[in-house]
Amino acid sequence: MISDYSQRLIVQEVAPRDGLQIEPTWVETTDKIKLIDQLSLAGFSRIEAGSFVSPKAIPALRDGEQVFQGITRRQGVVYVALIPNLKGAQRALQAGADELNLVLSASQSHNQANMRMTREQSLAAFAEVVALARGSAVSLNGTVATTFGCPFEGPIDEGLVMRLVDIYQSLGMQGVTLADTTGMANPRQVYRLVRRVLEQLPAAALTLHFHNTRGLGLSNVLAAYEAGARRFDAALGGLGGCPFAPGASGNICTEDLVNLCEEMGIDTGIDLPRLLDLSRTLPSLLGHEMPGQVAKAGRNCDLHPLPPGIG
Ligand code: COA
Ligand code: ZN
Repeated sequence: MISDYSQRLIVQEVAPRDGLQIEPTWVETTDKIKLIDQLSLAGFSRIEAGSFVSPKAIPALRDGEQVFQGITRRQGVVYVALIPNLKGAQRALQAGADELNLVLSASQSHNQANMRMTREQSLAAFAEVVALARGSAVSLNGTVATTFGCPFEGPIDEGLVMRLVDIYQSLGMQGVTLADTTGMANPRQVYRLVRRVLEQLPAAALTLHFHNTRGLGLSNVLAAYEAGARRFDAALGGLGGCPFAPGASGNICTEDLVNLCEEMGIDTGIDLPRLLDLSRTLPSLLGHEMPGQVAKAGRNCDLHPLPPGIG
């Protein structure tokens, strides 16, 4: 253990995007706006508030324009939009997104399944997005999906991930996200790759995006933190998943991550009681239980009364 736990861990909340994109229940635009507004009040500095993709591909997020235009922007919060191509970037800029998250899979087959493009076609589209964004105030983040494994191809070559990180940097993107789309990463692999990437990128420019599909989500966070990473995506309640990746399931759960940080003395700036209250509204909004654990168990400090007759 080499880490200095006094360094803040930044959580980007992705439930409004990764969380809702796979939900079968339609969430009304006003409910999406309320959720994002509540998240803004909970202390996040970054919220992925939606995506601007084909409404046929992701019908659940087809109201991105109304959502971005309806939210109450809190000063200091960066509202991010996921986009796959130029059309998505144009829509997101028009809707007032602060940052565009451009997504491409390291695996050719997952990129085909998810984006209906080859990696080369995605990268050509990203060059158009970079040209569009030039001169505007919007910032750009490039995501490498399936970084730690692909549900169709299996292991991903680290050299390929490094080349994609290089390409994102040479395109002038300010941030890079390494995403474990279907929870295939393990802590040893995460530690090694994060160390390697941080030789090339400052920690402030790197985000890790883990899914808890195989129960390793928070272990991977700690491995990445130990390796120097400081920014993580997480979803309220542990919602999330890519509809075009077989077997995909929830992101790491935000309140479980924040609770872990509080217990370890790592600052996140996030109001955990408020977050727990908000997470406990999700089952009625979406009609099912959430995978997150702390919303059910309570915090360590939420003690129980002694049984009658004891003490
Ligand atoms: N927003 C809205 N509509 C879009 C769009 C965007 N960003 N990009 C393309 N479209 C529309 C086109 O205008 C066209 O519309 P039409 O049928 O009315 O003419 C239609 O979608 C097909 O366009 P095409 O470029 O041929 O797209 P495609 O069918 O090959 O799909 C993507 C490519 C990238 C648009 C689609 O695969 C997609 O949106 N994928 C995102 C999946 C996702 O969000 N996954 C989870 C997050 S990682
Ligand atoms: Zn994801």
